[in-house]
Amino acid sequence: MHDTLHLAPDSAGIARAAALLRAGGLVAFPTETVYGLGGDATCDAAVAGIYAAKGRPSHNPLIVHVPDLAAAERLAVFDDQARALAAAFWPGPLTLVLPLRTDAGLSPRITAGHTRVALRVPAHPLAQHLLRACARPLAGPSANPSGKISPTTAAHVLHGLSGRIAAVLDGGPCTVGVESTILAPGTPPALLRPGGISAEDIARVLGTLPARAADTPNPVAPGQLASHYAPDAALRLNVTAPLPGELWVGFGPCPGAALSLSETGDLAQAAARLFATLREADRRAGPAGRIAVAPVPHRGLGLAINDRLARAAAPRP
Ligand code: TXA
Ligand code: MG
Repeated sequence: MHDTLHLAPDSAGIARAAALLRAGGLVAFPTETVYGLGGDATCDAAVAGIYAAKGRPSHNPLIVHVPDLAAAERLAVFDDQARALAAAFWPGPLTLVLPLRTDAGLSPRITAGHTRVALRVPAHPLAQHLLRACARPLAGPSANPSGKISPTTAAHVLHGLSGRIAAVLDGGPCTVGVESTILAPGTPPALLRPGGISAEDIARVLGTLPARAADTPNPVAPGQLASHYAPDAALRLNVTAPLPGELWVGFGPCPGAALSLSETGDLAQAAARLFATLREADRRAGPAGRIAVAPVPHRGLGLAINDRLARAAAPRP
């Protein structure tokens, strides 16, 4: 493949990105959560290219990004609950898994054989401009090689995918820092992945807490593999007293910590810093190194942070 273009976040950069996407090319773009690896969701070759560039197993379906609810309703069937969630949280870091319309026109590879499609309306202004400029629904998994740490800067994207994609649109660091919350509406609604919208916020809209996928008999987001977000170094969690040789990542007051997710114990700051901090800890610890992470509370965004940390620490395949 050719060199990956580094596009500026201006009208020329957006126009170039949109033209590449319309021609079936792959362009990484910023969202408020993490950078997505964009490709035309209606184009079979583009979608196949996404799986190839990431090394992603073909049974793991892709999220489709659209600019607004009207565009989403052309792809999936919404009921009252889904509309209430969209009204409350779109644009924003919530992905809804809904019945695919027969006339949606998406590449069959998007849903990997499932009858439901995952839809997301990102809030990031550049993502919004790009979706409107290219006028196609965009498949957008996180722009990292499969199983590795998600990217929250254009430099992270290039580190993992340079030479494998046509371009990256540089929007600076992502503000939320963890991926979208994935929810399948229903009774009860199923939380397939905790993320940038907290379960508590969803409960305020629905009047009931969504059930964690692990608590329900069957449905699991296929991509929620045990090992994910894996640094090269080994990771140990909930550590209040690091062992000699461990690089300690703090949360709140942690005297002697090498790095911190948030010195003040702020969960939003910890989410925004999570992936960049894991990368930096990995770089400092080295390939045979060991990283220890302080406990992070399991409320609000802490649910998503702990989910990502648990996968980063899980035994590797
Ligand atoms: O914040 C985000 O959601 C980011 C940005 C770029 O939008 N995207 C992202 O995509 O995290 P990805 O592919 O890294 O994670 C998508 C997850 C995977 O676990 C996948 O299995 C699940 O969503 N998923 C996609 N389509 C699905 C479907 N039809 N049913 C159930 N799970 C689905
Ligand atoms: Mg991902």
